[in-house]
Amino acid sequence: MIQPIQRELAEQAYGRELDLLARADRRPRPPNWRLSPWAVSTYILGGTLDDGTPITPKYIGRPRLIEIAIATLTTDRALLLLGVPGTGKTWLSEHLAAAVSGDSTLLVQGTAGTSEEVIRYGWNYASLIARGPSAEALVPSPVLSGMRDGKLVRVEELTRIPSDVQDALITILSEKLLPIPELGQAVQAVKGFNVIATANDRDRGINDLSSALKRRFNTVVLPLPATPEEEVTIVTRRVADLSRALELPAEPPAAEEIRRVVTIFRELRGGLTEDGRAKVKSPSGTLSTGEAISVLNSGLALAAHFGDGRLAAEDLAAGLTGAVIKDPVQDSAIWQEYLETVMRERDGWGDLYAACRELV
Ligand SMILES: Nc1ncnc2c1ncn2[C@@H]1O[C@H](COP(=O)(O)OP(=O)(O)OP(=O)(O)O)[C@@H](O)[C@H]1O
Ligand SMILES: [Mg+2]
Repeated sequence: MIQPIQRELAEQAYGRELDLLARADRRPRPPNWRLSPWAVSTYILGGTLDDGTPITPKYIGRPRLIEIAIATLTTDRALLLLGVPGTGKTWLSEHLAAAVSGDSTLLVQGTAGTSEEVIRYGWNYASLIARGPSAEALVPSPVLSGMRDGKLVRVEELTRIPSDVQDALITILSEKLLPIPELGQAVQAVKGFNVIATANDRDRGINDLSSALKRRFNTVVLPLPATPEEEVTIVTRRVADLSRALELPAEPPAAEEIRRVVTIFRELRGGLTEDGRAKVKSPSGTLSTGEAISVLNSGLALAAHFGDGRLAAEDLAAGLTGAVIKDPVQDSAIWQEYLETVMRERDGWGDLYAACRELV
């Protein structure tokens, strides 16, 4: 029996759109690119093909940022997507790799324990010991595979990788070469290879990029959504996608509930109420768009399995409280103050106020 997979890759979930775009695309494609830069940007930002077929937007935000990101990938510079948590860096990088290379799986997850092997290559020790270093015993890293096949490679959380390991990328990015001294060889990158790295500028325990490495990247900063409307659009779209993927037996949340969550997040993040009248304190965690999406999703799961399938205030309250209170002492006080001074007074918010009140 074939087991259902939990999460489809971008190139699987949007395979049809990618095929249609490839067929309609008459513009020049850089070597080894599946699509032209124009078609990649249509895939990311959404649009309509000549025959009227709609392409859904994946990233919602300023088109210019996406154009700069795509243009960078056609040059000899790598792309660094920078921004606070939950601004869609990972999401965008997956979709770029899917659109450009048809493959988003060449991925290095950066952690404090990432070693050079993960960036360069390792060895299959059994065959290394039995037969000595040979091409068969070599275990290529995702970076090495991307160089050989002319594909995009994603490096997640680049700044979590220890600095000396990060620097293994310098030769790769500047010379497009990966020496393998044990075999007396060097792998030269095939056209189409490039790196998309993501990093967030908020987390602790980061290792800043050396200036030598920084010069190999063009940085694109992904901002938080500029307006409440934009943020509501992002959240609405992603919550619908995710609840479909999770097969949650719940109705899509009412637009009003999404609006309320986004309003609370924006006010706490910005330190000011929407009408600009009152200051509020900001909690310690980043109340990102990504987190707003999770609050609604967990609410939907509660509604689906323990409610009547329609998202209610009680279903949101738990997620909201969890998202806001990251530090039990400080954030609790900030949240209570917000509940009493802002939420309690707001017309039509009595249900949500009461539900949140019960949990603190
Ligand atoms: N502008 C946007 N357009 C579309 N989706 C967005 C946008 N901003 C955030 N999202 C959504 O928010 C969720 C979180 O995004 P993602 O995981 O890519 O964030 P991130 O920037 O990589 O965060 P972190 O720094 O925590 O890794 C995703 O579901 C993504 O679709
Ligand atoms: Mg990420």
